[in-house]
Amino acid sequence: MKQYKLLVLPGDGIGPEIIDEGLKLIQQIEKSEQISFVITKELVGGSAIDEYGEAIKDETIAIAKQSDAVLWGAVGGPKWDNPSASVRPEQGLLKIRSELNLWANLRPVKIWGELINSSSIKKEKLMNVDILVIRELISGAYFGKPQERRIHNGKREAVDTIYYNEDQIANIAHLGFKLARKRKGKLHSVDKANVLESSRLWREVVHEIQQQYIDVDFQDILVDAATMHLIRQPSDFDVMIASNLFGDIITDEASMLSGSLGMLPSASLSDISESGIGVGLYEPIHGSAPDIAGQGIANPIAMFLCIAMLFRYSLNLENIAIKIESSVAKVIEAGLRTQDIAEDSKDAVSTKQMANAIIEQYTMI
Ligand code: IPM
Ligand code: MG
Repeated sequence: MKQYKLLVLPGDGIGPEIIDEGLKLIQQIEKSEQISFVITKELVGGSAIDEYGEAIKDETIAIAKQSDAVLWGAVGGPKWDNPSASVRPEQGLLKIRSELNLWANLRPVKIWGELINSSSIKKEKLMNVDILVIRELISGAYFGKPQERRIHNGKREAVDTIYYNEDQIANIAHLGFKLARKRKGKLHSVDKANVLESSRLWREVVHEIQQQYIDVDFQDILVDAATMHLIRQPSDFDVMIASNLFGDIITDEASMLSGSLGMLPSASLSDISESGIGVGLYEPIHGSAPDIAGQGIANPIAMFLCIAMLFRYSLNLENIAIKIESSVAKVIEAGLRTQDIAEDSKDAVSTKQMANAIIEQYTMI
């Protein structure tokens, strides 16, 4: 029997609730398939700050490096929100991304036909929307130095730096072109080359790489135009590549096409070989949602779809990934809705009811 090492980091808010349901799905998969997991659980984010005084321990990073995959819940909450605090829950996430060299963040945005009414965008605009945003994850404005506060002429000032080198851009570009080839063959590269030097380098490098992929329908798009176009005609997009900060912003926007953040998974990878295998961290796009934490009403679907991505990319078990995704689809087709996607909240089911229905469906496929 094949055995995998999985590090589970529930975090804060609804993180632990949806992770618990995800682990039940994994238990079911262990029963149904010839595989097993050795699971390690650790605190991250605010709960780690409370316990250890830091958002992620070095030991946790070391375990992650030895694992086949990392499953991440969510971090943050009002308790740790003080902007002047020296330790913040988000630092844990940024540190693990950087330490594991997870430069490629895949954020698929797909519209579920049955949920089209829960989007705030007109139905007819949403037909055929199926977008994959590839966000650079360990450089750019998030990590550039200097990043600091200082005093100048007696006044407070602050600086962040957008840094990219040509290798970082080339990696994202190659991945974007390759994945576009496997999809509808279309790639948009998002930048702000009319203003930013880092974007001008981004564009230059992407154009050089493009010479190797002339079969892909390629276009540059300025980030402001991209955000507008995502609302005006989202079906025009297939694969989008973007820097860390631009990718962060456009994926929150794109997520609203699908109606709920609770439906969207993401994979952060350090390597994607031709066979699709890579060490990775999997996290839902939604945050810790402190406003609904502890109520048992969070949508577990993003977490389930994260587990599907984990099987696809880190374990190269595409058939299990598809089984999970089909189980989710069947349950949505059958009309089950958590509160975030319900048309009438009276009919909404709990986190556990939704999760149990999907797991039961899994056993029937
Ligand atoms: C995301 C989140 C994080 C980010 C935060 C929590 C640091 O918004 O994963 O998109 O900005 O990368
Ligand atoms: Mg974000």
